Parts: sequence; C-alpha cells; structure tokens
Amino acid sequence: MAYAVFASSIYAANLTGHWVASFHADGTVRETHLYLKADENLLTGWMSSNAGNEKIQDGKITGDAFTFTIVQDRFGEEQRLEFTGKLTGQELTLTYPHPSDRPGRQVQFKQVSSAAPPEMPPNPAKISLPAAAPVAYNELAKAPPMGWNSWNKFANKVSDQLVRETADQMASNGMKDAGYVYINIDDTWEANRDANGNIQTNSKFPDMKALTAYVHSKGFKIGIYSSPGPKTCAGYEGSFQHEEQDAKSYAEWGFDYLKYDWCSATQVYDYHSMPAVYAKMGEALLHSGRPILFSLCQYGVLHVEKWGEKVGGNAWRTTGDISDNWKSMSHIGFDLQLELAPYAGPGHWNDPDMLEIGNGGMTDTEYRTHMSLWCLLAAPLLAGNDQRNMTPAIRDILENRELIAVDQDRLGKQATRVAKDGDLEVWARQLQDGSHAVGLFNRGGAQAKVTARWSDLGISGKAHVRDLWAHADRGEVPNEYSTDVQSHGVVMIKVSQ
Ligand code: GLA
Repeated sequence: MAYAVFASSIYAANLTGHWVASFHADGTVRETHLYLKADENLLTGWMSSNAGNEKIQDGKITGDAFTFTIVQDRFGEEQRLEFTGKLTGQELTLTYPHPSDRPGRQVQFKQVSSAAPPEMPPNPAKISLPAAAPVAYNELAKAPPMGWNSWNKFANKVSDQLVRETADQMASNGMKDAGYVYINIDDTWEANRDANGNIQTNSKFPDMKALTAYVHSKGFKIGIYSSPGPKTCAGYEGSFQHEEQDAKSYAEWGFDYLKYDWCSATQVYDYHSMPAVYAKMGEALLHSGRPILFSLCQYGVLHVEKWGEKVGGNAWRTTGDISDNWKSMSHIGFDLQLELAPYAGPGHWNDPDMLEIGNGGMTDTEYRTHMSLWCLLAAPLLAGNDQRNMTPAIRDILENRELIAVDQDRLGKQATRVAKDGDLEVWARQLQDGSHAVGLFNRGGAQAKVTARWSDLGISGKAHVRDLWAHADRGEVPNEYSTDVQSHGVVMIKVSQ
C-alpha cells in the first residue's frame, strides 16, 4: 500500500505540465495539447484540440495510469468521453474512446514543459446563422445515387492511383454496367489553402483535373468530400468561410458529387444553424457552374429528413457511421430507418451509410441481407470494398440486377416494415409497375420460417412470386408466401398480380 502511494506520487509529479501530440498526415499537421496538473492521485487541467478547449473532469491517477472524462454537448445531448492514459518514461500514451464498441485510438504525447497549466482560454462564441431560403432542386438523383466510396475500406489510404485503379476495375468487372456511376473520394485528399484561399490537394492527389478527366473517360462520374467546419473529421482542411470558393474549385476540377460532413462545424456554429450551414453549400453548388450532387452527412441529427431536401440535399445520412459487422449493419438497417420512409423520394433520399459488402466482417448471407435492406430502403448504393479483388460471390451480391432494379425503381417509395414477429421481419415497398418488393428477414440465430402476407401489402387473392436472389419464379401463390430463411439471412421476392 505504502509503495502504491509512493509510486503514484512519483508519476503524479511527472504528469504535471504541457504535453503535445502532433499528427503528420499527407503534408498536413495538427496538434492536440494537454495541460495537466497532478495533485497526489487527482488530475486536473484541460485539453485543446480540433474540438476546442475542454476541461478535464474526474481525473484520477493510479500508479502509472490515469483516467479522465471530457463532457461534450452533442447536438443538445450530453456526451461523456472516458479517456485512459499511461506514462511510460518520457512518453504519455492517451487512449481516446471510440464511439462504437471498437478499441480506442492510442495517441502518443511528448512533454514540452513541466509548468502547471495556465487558465483555460474561453472558446470563441458560436456563430448563429439566420434561417436560409429554400435551395432550388438541382434535378439530380432521380433515383438513389449508385457508385463507390473510398472510406469504408481505405480511409486515409485513398490516392489518385487507387481511384484510377478502381475506375479501371469498375469499367470491366460489371459494376459500371450494373449502374454504379459515381466514384467518390472521401476524406484525406485535402491540403492547406494557397495565398488566395484556394483549397489545395495533398501529395496523394497531384492533379485533380487529370484525375477527374481520367475517371470521366472511363464513363463514370466522380465525387469529392468536405466539411462545413474548419477541419474535416480526419482533421484535414474544411470549407469553413470558403464555401463558394470551394464549390467553384470542385466544379473547375470536374467533380460531380459532394459529400459534406458536419465534423468540426460543431466548434464554430450553433448546431441549430445546421440547415442554414448546409443551405449555404447547397446554393454554392448550384452556382458553381457544374451540376453537383449534394450529399449531406450529419449523422441524422436534428431530424435532417425534414429539412434535407430544402437545403438542396439529394441524400442525407440518417445515422452515425456503419461498421463492417452484423450488429452495426442490422441495427442501422432495421432499427434506425423505421420512421423515415415518408421523407424519401425522387431527388432526395435517406442514406443509411455506405455499403460494407465485401469488406470481410460479415458472411455472404449477411451481406445479402445488407444489400436487400438497402435496396428496399431506396438507399444510395455506394460500394465500399476493394474493387481490385472481389470474390465472385461478392460480385453477385453487388451486381444483382433484380435487387438493383428495386433500389432504383422510379416510384422512389422507400420500404416500411409491414410485419414483425420477434427476430422475423417483413419489409415491403411498392414499385412503379404496381408490384411489391418484399424482404423476408430472419435476424435470429437459427433458421426459421418467415411468412409474407398479401394483406400486409394491401392485396388479396393470388399473386405471382419471383425470388430475386435465386432468380427463379415461384408461381402463383394465394394469400401469403412462407419460406425458410437462414439465420441473419433474407429471401427477397417480387410480388405481382
Ligand atoms: C465521418 C463520416 C464518414 C467518413 C469520415 C471521414 O465519420 O461519417 O463516412 O466520411 O467522417 O473522416
């Protein structure tokens, strides 16, 4: 016991001071500062990062380890982030919590002074924008956008070469023919601004104009990414106070699609201004000189489905980030879309996030469920896998024309859940030709019989059934269709009279 107290106080003394972590990525640098004061086994101080200046709360030191909490306001709700840290020699390792159940991110800090922390400077007041006038429809996305996005598989490894290779592959592997049109660069392409405030690309993207020309020459369209905040979610340069200039740059470079991700906008704007913040970019894109599809990414907060269309959005994310596992995908796909169907339609879609199909964290059965749900939900279909090595099974899932036809159906009516019995769910959407696309899902751990009742579709009598995964007609069936469905699987049918 005496030893533990002694050890604590040694480490405690060493923790006091100013610590810095520098992130160098693709020619950009950003820093996080910790100003700590250790007093026996109590830790106080503050942290300064992209998120602004934040007080450390409940700081405790135990031996060479410590913990503290940062309390943030997340769109009106209190969010507590629990950090853990460890002092090893001269190096402090801080583990940031991960928003989902994945392991946290570890960051190394170096001490630059052992002085006690100065007072925490106040954060600048947040900007409130007046409500914006509705943004005119850009006539794009009559059906949900289809394409590919770099983030899910490659994150910060996206590069000019990867985008070219992806275009080459998609031109020849059936994806283009199946309707996947947009090849989208996500976060981490950005560098700082030049003397005139023009956004620059980092070393991974030497020539955007040449890249868009290449992608266009293969018969695709191409997308780019930014944030209304000063920094993107990965800490790169955002569009804050450069909205029109950036929209013009995207247009001049030849981009056709923008994903606009809230990220650090939280630090500069009162979040109630969010619709006006998005409208600003919506307008800027309209006047950029090029039709640019506008995809909103603000994790579905503030009921974006009620205003996404008015700010010029062609699609809006409805949830936080998807992960490549059953729990994440099924929760997003089944549970978090239930109320959203009335808000989707031609030109403006609910976006339950990009596809994880082919990334390895789910079985092919689960990926078929992922594809079926997204097609029923009239969701954007943005493949997120490595196009250079797709198994035939994954290709069959992503390129299933009968499923894609459901997603792209011109009526644009998003499915609703029409029946639920424990882990068994039936989802259905009406199609332009009067038929219904129906998913018979089994979320449970064992095979089970699932029944789709015609009465739940608003029809009666006999109906023709076609199985859209088996590509087989199942004949004329009265009243209902029952079939065995694998654990975590789906049978997807088209019901017509
Ligand atoms: C957020 C978005 C993701 C991705 C990353 C990039 O987390 O929700 O889809 O764009 O940022 O940093």
